[in-house]
Amino acid sequence: MKKLLMIPGPTPVVDSIREQMGRDTVAFGDPGFVADFKQVIQDLKNMWSCDGEVFVVAGSGTLAMEMALANTVTKGEKFLLVSNGFFGDRFIEIAERKGIDLTVLQAEWGDTVTPQQVDDVLKQGGFKAVAVTQVDTSTGVLAPVHEIGQVVKQYEDVIYIVDGVCSVAGEPVNLKDDQIDVLFTGSQKAFGVSPGLMMLWANQRSLQRRQAMGQIPEYYCDYHKWLPIMQDTAKYFATPPINLIWALQESIRLIKEETLNQRYQRHQDNAFAMQQAFEAMGFQVLAKKECRAHTLSNLLYPEGVDDAEFRTKLAQEGVQAAGGVGQYAGKMLRIGHMGNADRHTLIATLAALERTMKHFRPDHELGQALTAFLKARS
Ligand SMILES: Cc1ncc(COP(=O)(O)O)c(C=O)c1O
Repeated sequence: MKKLLMIPGPTPVVDSIREQMGRDTVAFGDPGFVADFKQVIQDLKNMWSCDGEVFVVAGSGTLAMEMALANTVTKGEKFLLVSNGFFGDRFIEIAERKGIDLTVLQAEWGDTVTPQQVDDVLKQGGFKAVAVTQVDTSTGVLAPVHEIGQVVKQYEDVIYIVDGVCSVAGEPVNLKDDQIDVLFTGSQKAFGVSPGLMMLWANQRSLQRRQAMGQIPEYYCDYHKWLPIMQDTAKYFATPPINLIWALQESIRLIKEETLNQRYQRHQDNAFAMQQAFEAMGFQVLAKKECRAHTLSNLLYPEGVDDAEFRTKLAQEGVQAAGGVGQYAGKMLRIGHMGNADRHTLIATLAALERTMKHFRPDHELGQALTAFLKARS
């Protein structure tokens, strides 16, 4: 049986994207590929309003985290990390290994750090950068990146980094409108491409910061190694993942066809309807209503339902979902509803969830969740 891929990334890969990965691979100097790569970079720059450079590099979101930090802050400099969960916390070790002078603002899981809290810390002075995770995939919390951007822009020396791994192409975010200097994501989430590519947008301001840093210890993720390639895609530094770049090109074509605004709206409508359905089944959404993401849902089980058993049964019913991480390991079900997951897929997912829930809670009335979804998303 085909299993629906409903973990919060990788997300379902639609046929037209998958076909690009099955194409005959060409040389990276092939004129057709060089032109396609150039188009991808230009589109990404335009769509997310970047006046600097976009780096499209083989690697996952974690590489992008390291790249963002390595090219912005150096040993001994002050860096403020705003963390709303497990993925925000990942920056702690990255910063510590680099000997960066780290300050951490952590929210309780399910809640978000506020712009005021960020301001209070930045007032102490001397910070070189702030990083925020727009959607922390461990909690399903959406951080107020726009409002934090309004705060950060008052501090001339501070570069604003946003982790958009679980948000870009699903949640509204834009370098210019949100005063973001560095934004990054991975191919496997709201772009609906298989894992393996990272994208990082760096505006002029952040490129100037990199310039002022001189040589950095990192090699593969040094902006200066990649800048010549992003500016002229016929050049070589390290082999580009040709078929993944084609897949990304197709994903971008689909996004342009849908338009970003309609895509954001679709994510919001789907998230609302899915969350109505989850609640109708007895799940509780962890994130507070005021800061709930639209790309995934992080659900606490109803009394007496065991996580491992539930997900095993759910897989037998045809749906792969993820468990919790960190403090919610064994206590949480995480379901992605981002990227190109269509309405049929969401409805099939809910039907499988209902069958699974009926197995564990015989009093669950089949159809309740589907009805809640259809009422909200008719
Ligand atoms: C918000 C966020 N940041 C970073 C990462 C790390 O990305 P990757 O697993 O692609 O290295 C993830 C992964 O899920 C994530 O959700």
